Parts: sequence; structure tokens; C-alpha cells
Amino acid sequence: MKTISTFLLLGLLFSCATKEAPTEDSFEYEEKQTPVELGEKLFNGKGNCYSCHNPEQKIIGPSLLEIGKIYKDKNGNIVEFLKEKADPIVDPAQYPAMKVNFAITKRMSDEELKALEAYIYSFSK
Ligand code: HEC
Repeated sequence: MKTISTFLLLGLLFSCATKEAPTEDSFEYEEKQTPVELGEKLFNGKGNCYSCHNPEQKIIGPSLLEIGKIYKDKNGNIVEFLKEKADPIVDPAQYPAMKVNFAITKRMSDEELKALEAYIYSFSK
């Protein structure tokens, strides 16, 4: 009789311990992330934007500070630009070097493009 209840108890403990262990997916889903944080991740990750753009200095492409400032002044739309639906307004002479990246940005969701926009604007506040 004692052995049976010990087994029952062990079985109960074991089933509790294995249930509801959070998976990596649900962890990522629950993690709160602001658009700027997502934008930064994309900018330095799959967007590969960092290789030509620096927040404050011109490297191959204009700085994010400059892009943000000009887009605000001219009331431009960064999301439309990244979808290749709006013309360049920052440095049109260098446009071909930027154009190749639309292969990446056109595969991004609106949420991701808006996050990139929010990240760019975060430097020109
Ligand atoms: C191979 C280098 C390169 C990469 C990588 C790159 N850019 Fe650019 N980008 C440029 C150059 C050069 C310009 C200036 C030409 C222009 O204004 O279109 C530019 C301009 C821009 C502009 C201003 C466009 C305008 O109105 O003139 C935005 C916004 C921009 N880039 C965003 C991004 C984002 C977001 C990414 C990543 C998804 C990215 N760039 C990746 C080179 C690059």
C-alpha cells in the first residue's frame, strides 16, 4: 500500500513538472518591444542597413540624423520610399546604391518598415 501511494505521488509530481514549460517561441511572443527597438534590430540585423548608414555620420549613405531631418522638413514618407513607391529626396545622385536594398525592404511587413522609420526618426528628435 505504501509503495502504491509513493508511485502515485511521484507520478503526480512528474506530470506537474513537465507541464507548461515555456517554449522559446512563447517567450519571444510575450516579450514587449517598442517600434524603435524592433527598428534597431532590423537595421543592424536582417536589413543590413548599418553597413552603409551610421546614426550621426555620413559613411556610404547619409546619416540617420540627416535622413530624419530632411524627411521631416520635406514631409517625406520613409515607408513609401522603402517600398520603392516614393522618389529619393536626400541624395538622389547616390540613389542607385540605395536602390539595391529594396530587394530586402520589399520583403518586410508594414510593421517592420514602420519600425525602421521610427528608429531613423529617433535620432532627429
Ligand atoms: C549599399 C549601401 C546601403 C545600404 C546597405 C543601405 N543604404 Fe540607405 N542609402 C544609401 C545611399 C548611398 C543613400 C543616398 C541615396 C538616396 O538618397 O537615395 C541612401 C539613402 C537612404 C534613405 C534616404 C532616401 C532618400 O529619400 O533620398 C533612406 C530612408 C535609407 N537609405 C534607408 C535605408 C534602410 C532602412 C536600409 C536598410 C534596409 C538601408 N538604407 C540600407 C546606401 C545604402
